[in-house]
Amino acid sequence: MTQVAASSEKGTGDEVPVFGNFIGGEWRPAESGRSFESLNPADTRDLIGKFAASDAADVAAAVRAAEEALPAWSDMPAPKRGEIMYAFGALLAEHKERLARAMTREMGKVLAEARGDVQEGVDIAYLMAGEGRRMFGDTTPSELPSKWAMSIRQHIGVAGIITPWNFPIAIPCWKMTAALITGNVVVLKPSSDTPHCAALLVELMDEAGFPAGTVNMVTGSGEEVGMPLAENPDVNVISFTGNGTTGRQIAIAAARRNARVSLELGGKNAIAVMADADLDLAVEGILWSAFGTTGQRCTACSRLVVDEKVADKLVATLVDRASRLRLGAGLDSATDVGPLINAAALQKVGAYVEVGTEEGARLATGGEPTADREDLEHGHFYGPTILDGVRYMDRVAQEEIFGPVLSVIRVNGYQEAAMVVNHTRYGLSSSIYTTDTNTAFRAMRDFTTGIVYVNAGTIGAETHLPFGGMKGTGNGHREAGHAALDTFTEWKSIYVDYSGRLQRAQIDNQ
Ligand code: UN1
Repeated sequence: MTQVAASSEKGTGDEVPVFGNFIGGEWRPAESGRSFESLNPADTRDLIGKFAASDAADVAAAVRAAEEALPAWSDMPAPKRGEIMYAFGALLAEHKERLARAMTREMGKVLAEARGDVQEGVDIAYLMAGEGRRMFGDTTPSELPSKWAMSIRQHIGVAGIITPWNFPIAIPCWKMTAALITGNVVVLKPSSDTPHCAALLVELMDEAGFPAGTVNMVTGSGEEVGMPLAENPDVNVISFTGNGTTGRQIAIAAARRNARVSLELGGKNAIAVMADADLDLAVEGILWSAFGTTGQRCTACSRLVVDEKVADKLVATLVDRASRLRLGAGLDSATDVGPLINAAALQKVGAYVEVGTEEGARLATGGEPTADREDLEHGHFYGPTILDGVRYMDRVAQEEIFGPVLSVIRVNGYQEAAMVVNHTRYGLSSSIYTTDTNTAFRAMRDFTTGIVYVNAGTIGAETHLPFGGMKGTGNGHREAGHAALDTFTEWKSIYVDYSGRLQRAQIDNQ
């Protein structure tokens, strides 16, 4: 097998680039020698590269390399780690356009959004670089005289990072930068739909100066790489973003050996539009949140909960605007909505729209594109779709579709809207459009989601605030912001008694 290993630029002529795993600072093929392909979802005739189809042996090698790198990395002063992190952020910024184009080619999102995805990586790298000089613990008075009390954060060890394809640069960056700045070493298992983005990212991390073995990457399937990573006794913490079934399997595997797990498992996010809302503003937020990234964001709006007094007017405008969004390849500047990620996603979205109409909803716009668009023939395209007249317990209002499908649920007033917004097993993001300050504050208090927006859509979380959800969306952890440090650190409380005598806490302090 030819081992081009790193970026596709190193390939020659028409030869398909071949990428290995990145273990201990070296690119190497899967021990089994097997590989898999990554294709462009806008045109599946476009083969992006071949990637290592790894298994437990490769995972074990990566974990060993990580363990070897751990002592030196965790001993390095955190501000020094921050300098490497800063260099990495700067490299990401420098290569933003190249990475964004590679991303659009590999997973389909339109170029402006791909640039935004890389920008999130830059933002979190700079934020975490700064954490190298903060990473605050507490110093606090002791109960006893001449005694010092404080708490510090310490690294946990080897972090297993399992990431999805929908934010193929941003999400690995959120997780890896938080793990690394706190002194952990990482083994990244990227989605098999976006191994090229992961390879380009890891290549830049290497260039930025992360020492060999601190960042490792193993590509391959969830069963053959993800699960062995979750089961490996030397992996101390796992951070996973993806679907709920896989997330729970990972959590169970980790629970058997008391490893820490952070899960982010999606959403069924609602925008509530009250009768007093600025409807023009709401239309923009709904379209962007429902159909941006072809609806393939964990934070995408898949439910519109609208007061019946304004529902007809709002839905008519949305249908008109949605039907005019242009489907196409993300690299084409005329495109508003790119393809779905793969054939399975296309099948799933189509099946859900059928379920919706069988449940009694009205297909107001959307569906698969008609045959007159030859340019769409070889991609996984599905048009922006609106289902009207959905009831809040219908399957399309409860289950995550992860595509450009918006279910409209009509309600009467705030109380019913809040009940419907919250009546889902997920709790990631929500939004309310209202011009009434009191209603806005009630929603901020009442909505059971980790993120609440007022007069803005459900997407576009900023990296310096906690990211994550309540209820079935997660297991209590948060990514991004300084909250992310909690996933990757142990607290250590330290007491120094400088009185020179035995002082008994809880006994001598009356
Ligand atoms: C995700 O879809 O898993 O809030 C993350 C947003 C993005 C992150 C989405 N910044 O839309």
